[in-house]
Amino acid sequence: MSETTKWAILGTGMIARTFAGALAKSETGDLIAVGSRALASSNAFGKEFGVPRCYPTYEHVLADPDIDAVYISLPNHLHLEWGVRCAKAKKHILCEKPLTLNHSEAISLINAVRSNGVFMMEAFMYRCHPQTAKTVELIREGAIGDVRIIQAEFGYNMSGRAGDPYENIRLRNDVGGGSIMDVGCYAVSACRLMAGAALQRDGTLEPEEIRGLAHIGDRGRVDEWALAVLRFPNDILANVTVGSLVAVGTVFRAWGSEGFLEVPNPWFPGRAKEHETIVLQRTGKEREEIKVPACNGLLYTLEADILARHKQDGQAPSPCMTWNDSLGNMRTLDRWRESIGLVFDSEK
Ligand SMILES: NC(=O)c1ccc[n+]([C@@H]2O[C@H](COP(=O)([O-])OP(=O)(O)OC[C@H]3O[C@@H](n4cnc5c(N)ncnc54)[C@H](OP(=O)(O)O)[C@@H]3O)[C@@H](O)[C@H]2O)c1
Repeated sequence: MSETTKWAILGTGMIARTFAGALAKSETGDLIAVGSRALASSNAFGKEFGVPRCYPTYEHVLADPDIDAVYISLPNHLHLEWGVRCAKAKKHILCEKPLTLNHSEAISLINAVRSNGVFMMEAFMYRCHPQTAKTVELIREGAIGDVRIIQAEFGYNMSGRAGDPYENIRLRNDVGGGSIMDVGCYAVSACRLMAGAALQRDGTLEPEEIRGLAHIGDRGRVDEWALAVLRFPNDILANVTVGSLVAVGTVFRAWGSEGFLEVPNPWFPGRAKEHETIVLQRTGKEREEIKVPACNGLLYTLEADILARHKQDGQAPSPCMTWNDSLGNMRTLDRWRESIGLVFDSEK
């Protein structure tokens, strides 16, 4: 392994805190800087996580020549701007999901990454965990026969939390919120990955058809709960349920010609247990529980270590998010939003 990767974080919000904790457990990376819109937030974050360089702006981070890699943990509408600025400053990038607001922005970001010769990965942490690779392997090897129906769910209910939920970036149109962008991006990314595995593709597939339904709230002007059905080649059909104001389950399932597979904890594997379990029910056979190492709760640390391992290659291999995969996911989210008539302010 090459020398330690020196990291900085842009933003001091919820997931920035998780990632700072994860980096402390990484053997490949050190967190040396944080940038915030406010020096006080930067300093408080630095004190809590032992970060030596606490900057009063994001620009200061990019001007620091010692920084190799930047974790962009900003609201969705800022991913393009700061991703491009990181690329131009020759910093490798781990960018929070969804990569940008839409497919057109994703093309701009990937062009900047490519022309500046830096690494970039969209931070779908579940893709970096061995449970996802194992699920791909099972589907690819025909454990449930020909895949016919896929189901993915991811939701939570913000109305049970303290404070006004409409102040959260997840329920605000002006920053690219909504349940499709926040958690629908996971659900469709898993369907696309598993449909690709089912058809022996090297990577993911895009659906041939998408039909969506959603409830769009008056206050935030984004979808608060949403459904989509997707048709992939070979008539593999997927059914996706997500929500920010309704705690639907967190599960991935696939039914095939010769059985059924369930991943009970698809999005946050290894957070609290020693191992994860994939349930496999082959037709006419005993139910199997396939154990996957949980990686000691290092879900977010895996992302940092993957960047360290592949930073000279520009991107990480599938099932981590490749550039093409991110482009396909953003195009799918665009089509889902189009089918429910959701446009972001900055797209008008
Ligand atoms: N992979 C995961 O598990 C996961 C989980 C949660 C969120 N996410 C993604 O991570 C990103 C951030 O989510 P979060 O939950 O961490 O959000 P958050 O708690 O609201 O934090 C976002 C941070 O961005 C900065 N910021 C800059 N401009 C802002 C603006 N106009 N409004 C609000 N904040 C602004 C703020 O930091 P400063 O004031 O310090 O500049 C703020 O603390 C999103 O893209 C989200 O989809 C990923």
